[in-house]
Amino acid sequence: MISPIIRPNVNRYVDSLMPDLRVILSSNMLTNVNNYTSRFEDSIKGLLGTRNVVAVSSATSGLMLVLEALGVRGKEVVLPSFTFAATAASAYWTSNRLAFADIDDTFTLDPTKVRERVNDRTGAILAVHMYGNPVHVNKLKEISEEKGIPLIIDAAHAIGASYHGKKCGNLGIPEVFSLSPTKLITSVEGGIITTDDDELAEKLRIMRNYGLDKNYESEIPGLNARMSEVHAAIGLSQVDDIDKFVTNRNEYVKLYKNELNGIPGLSFQKIPPEHISSHKDFSIIINKNKFGSDRDQLGRELTDAGIGVKKYFYPPVHRLNAYRDVNVRLPITDIVSNNVLSLPIYNYMEKEEIEFITKSIITRGNK
Ligand SMILES: Cc1ncc(COP(=O)(O)O)c(C=O)c1O
Repeated sequence: MISPIIRPNVNRYVDSLMPDLRVILSSNMLTNVNNYTSRFEDSIKGLLGTRNVVAVSSATSGLMLVLEALGVRGKEVVLPSFTFAATAASAYWTSNRLAFADIDDTFTLDPTKVRERVNDRTGAILAVHMYGNPVHVNKLKEISEEKGIPLIIDAAHAIGASYHGKKCGNLGIPEVFSLSPTKLITSVEGGIITTDDDELAEKLRIMRNYGLDKNYESEIPGLNARMSEVHAAIGLSQVDDIDKFVTNRNEYVKLYKNELNGIPGLSFQKIPPEHISSHKDFSIIINKNKFGSDRDQLGRELTDAGIGVKKYFYPPVHRLNAYRDVNVRLPITDIVSNNVLSLPIYNYMEKEEIEFITKSIITRGNK
């Protein structure tokens, strides 16, 4: 593959990391929020400006802890279907009552559709900063406050993104980031919960450690959702570079769009001017009739040309067997999901690489 869909760049940190790994492995302080995990949490706190950062083993476990801590058990969770299955899995394991709502042209939850789905059984609204494009925070907060229902954000894609000049993770809502290898920074596996609510943060710290407090008492069931010291050290090595990665990715998306703008049948996710996306992914939407080739055909041809592509996210969650909901109508979700193709984007890319990809797309459309 000439240009794989992702290219993690953790290899750049190998030399600087080795002494830390030696320290950890020879200290026998391997996990349980010791030196490196605390330092990692502090450095994310500094970057995002959040009151509390709780490092966890994955975004999925972090979302489960937040949903459980906020009391969704037995209640419905309103969430998008245009997302990765992990968003739905976290709601399944905590409430098992999923109420899907449609997205709009930002590919994030449409607040008017959320309002229609909220009722007296609703326990939480779980929105997703899709590809790192922040959700409609103010409008969703309005619904959350008016109805007295917690708003939680799956920010798996969104490290380094911002909304109205504020970093995601500092929006006054619990948010959960992922550090798996497809993200801007990675701890190999891992997640970060951010919250301004000290009481919630304390509860989450207990819950990530089996739900056991210092006195070996357990008020709320927990998980083993701890981040190990090794994972924390790997994550810590990259934190100072997050802003640079976001700047680079925005530059690459600009290049992509400059080349692809005006090609009949191609369109993009809308990024409102007051949003800065982290661009964890960059996707195009293909209108087969206008472009002259459908998503699957273009995807196959690009793959044959050595360009890695993915259908992020197809099928939508409400069409996966585990979460199937045949009664819900999500027309925008279906259109986006049926026609989306995600293209390669990394923290560091060459202009020529993007030009090769865009030319490969353009030559496969209407001549
Ligand atoms: C939207 C979304 N939510 C949650 C997750 C799960 O993250 P993790 O692998 O850290 O559990 C992912 C993973 O890519 C994701 O894309």
